[in-house]
Amino acid sequence: MPARILDGTKIAADIRAEVSARVKSLTAAGIRPGLAVVLVGHNPASEVYVRGKVKSSHEVGLYSEQHTPAETATTDELLALISDLNRRDEIDGILVQLPLPSHVDAKKILLAVDPAKDVDGFHPMNVGYLSTQRPGLVPCTPAGVMEILRRSSIRIAGQEAVVVGRSDIVGKPVAMLLLNENATVTVCHSKTRDLPEVGRRADILIAAIGRAGMITADYVKPGATVVDVGINKITDRKEFDRFFVGDKKREEAFLAKGATLIGDVHPEVTEVAGAITPVPGGIGPRTIAMLMSNTVKAAMLRRGLSA
Ligand code: GUN
Repeated sequence: MPARILDGTKIAADIRAEVSARVKSLTAAGIRPGLAVVLVGHNPASEVYVRGKVKSSHEVGLYSEQHTPAETATTDELLALISDLNRRDEIDGILVQLPLPSHVDAKKILLAVDPAKDVDGFHPMNVGYLSTQRPGLVPCTPAGVMEILRRSSIRIAGQEAVVVGRSDIVGKPVAMLLLNENATVTVCHSKTRDLPEVGRRADILIAAIGRAGMITADYVKPGATVVDVGINKITDRKEFDRFFVGDKKREEAFLAKGATLIGDVHPEVTEVAGAITPVPGGIGPRTIAMLMSNTVKAAMLRRGLSA
């Protein structure tokens, strides 16, 4: 039996509606949460993401502003911008879109963001809060993974969770969130021995590697919940056939656009898993919804209100 599809778009819409309602009541009380997005240079993928973030901010009623320093901006110039945003009271959330140009010291920039305004949850202070279960700001994609599990009534406590990928942005924080919810967590990476065997232990398998279709059916225990965090673009016909041969609808779209999106999970896994997030339409939409939610949370925490 094919897996139950965990619909991220519907869950994202629910979260956005909840955030809108909270923004409305905060604004009525004289607090309009504000988000500043910093986009350095002209990375095309980043431009698409940032457009989505700004559009979504408008939709939920947040105040938002965009800062677009040139590709040539120096670390010191960016530090001055961050310092200004830290100081301004109407700004509750600061998001510096990654990647930054290679001449910029990205670690220094992320460390300069006031942890109370760090809506990405990348500051070491927030990483520490997460690992010691204190209230703080949690990275958006991992928070979105947990929302999708929670809102789909997937049991976490006592379950075996396997996270494939150990990035600071997804793998590590999602592992910590699962651990905080009492899962037994294994984190895998490129040096892990016999990855399929470890994968097959999972009741909940999180794929966050960044390699198209790498998780095939032999990594997955029948009936497991599979969350696919990857978003990879395929433009090569041979690669398309390797993953999607016989999928007429996707083929039409591929031929029209010259590209299609695939996660880190091979489509064949749908036949083995018990529940699975689709790509696109799974984790992506909820990352932005969680950013909106984090901005509201920051606005409340900064004012001593419980979020
Ligand atoms: N670039 C890709 N993903 C992200 C993210 O979650 N936050 C930021 N700031 N940049 C990104």
